[in-house]
Amino acid sequence: MSLNLKFGAFKSYYDEGMSAYTKGDFSVSREYMLKAAEMCSDLATQYPTADMRAEFKKKGEDILKFIRTNLVVRPKEEVVSGGNAPSQKADNLESAFEPMPKDQFKVKLTDIAGLEEVKETIKKRLILPLKKPEVYKEYGVTAGGAILMYGPPGTGKTMIAKAVASESDVNFFYVPSDKLVDKYVGETEKKIAALFDKVRKNLPAVLFFDEFDTIASERSADDKVAKMTVAALLTQIDGLGNDTRDMLLLAATNTPWLIDGAVLSRCKNLYLPLPDAEARATIFHIHLKKNLKKKDIDYVLLADQTEGLSGRDISKICEEIRLNLASRCIETGDAQICTMDDLLEEIRAAKKRPRPNLRMFETYNKEHSKDML
Ligand SMILES: Nc1ncnc2c1ncn2[C@@H]1O[C@H](COP(=O)(O)OP(=O)(O)OP(=O)(O)O)[C@@H](O)[C@H]1O
Ligand SMILES: [Mg+2]
Repeated sequence: MSLNLKFGAFKSYYDEGMSAYTKGDFSVSREYMLKAAEMCSDLATQYPTADMRAEFKKKGEDILKFIRTNLVVRPKEEVVSGGNAPSQKADNLESAFEPMPKDQFKVKLTDIAGLEEVKETIKKRLILPLKKPEVYKEYGVTAGGAILMYGPPGTGKTMIAKAVASESDVNFFYVPSDKLVDKYVGETEKKIAALFDKVRKNLPAVLFFDEFDTIASERSADDKVAKMTVAALLTQIDGLGNDTRDMLLLAATNTPWLIDGAVLSRCKNLYLPLPDAEARATIFHIHLKKNLKKKDIDYVLLADQTEGLSGRDISKICEEIRLNLASRCIETGDAQICTMDDLLEEIRAAKKRPRPNLRMFETYNKEHSKDML
């Protein structure tokens, strides 16, 4: 896309975003504003003059700040200030949070293709210290603290968390954010405190927050509930460093730049990039392995044709092919075989779908390189 076209796209995303914002349609506005910020980060590297590059860099940062403070998607109901909350006792609150059943997740680190360094770090920093704390303690290291996994959508963040749950054999708490965020002032903090208390009673444990941005985003000063949510989280994360050494907070997000700076500064960062060619070939292999007749599959060519696609994109390609083959089988009455033509056609369709802008991640990585694990 030429610079002019990119500038035009930026402008229209921005205008649509502001128009949705003025109508109070915050989630639509957020989508457009995120796209506008992505365009800015492209323009900030591509304009021929340094002035313009600096201007777009600044504009992109301002837009992200605007999203963080004004456009975080709220729980379904409106925020209600004041005291009418159906106040619950701490014990009742705690009973809402239970560790996941031990055999809930079957996925192992070895089922995850590529990400060798990430898997090694997860093993060394999380799984082994939780499994053999006595050995680690002898060497003066303990499990604990907060780790933030981030990366483009579909790169295996949730999968890694599931593998941690199944391989570490400690209590694993996974609480969807809508179970925590309450519309009543004061209730969300109570829930967060109750959750951490419950986890502390079940140590050693991992507490996993998926889509961490939904509870840990920076908010505007007048968003009282949200401000207090972040403050409550900060108090609890600070506590991790003191008495709760065998408690690990694991969080995942695909928009780390929306997370509150104070929360971010307390987390170690772990980046999960898009899969490389070898990992893409392995992901195809994994997803085509079972219950499928295949002919002459060239995994190197498949990997070659799918640069820029995520693990989830590849799993969807394979799922789509299975659906097509099943319906063709019903139509024709004949057993169907998966061929390279089927795969290449589905890959072409997948490549036409919108993909995340990696420049936002590159910028974030550069700015947070010192916090990387
Ligand atoms: N490295 C991988 N190896 C094997 N399969 C993968 C890999 N990465 C992604 N997948 C496939 O993609 C699916 C989605 O992955 P996952 O849910 O872990 O992504 P995510 O990073 O959490 O995405 P999001 O940011 O959207 O939450 C997995 O269930 C799996 O089928
Ligand atoms: Mg996920």
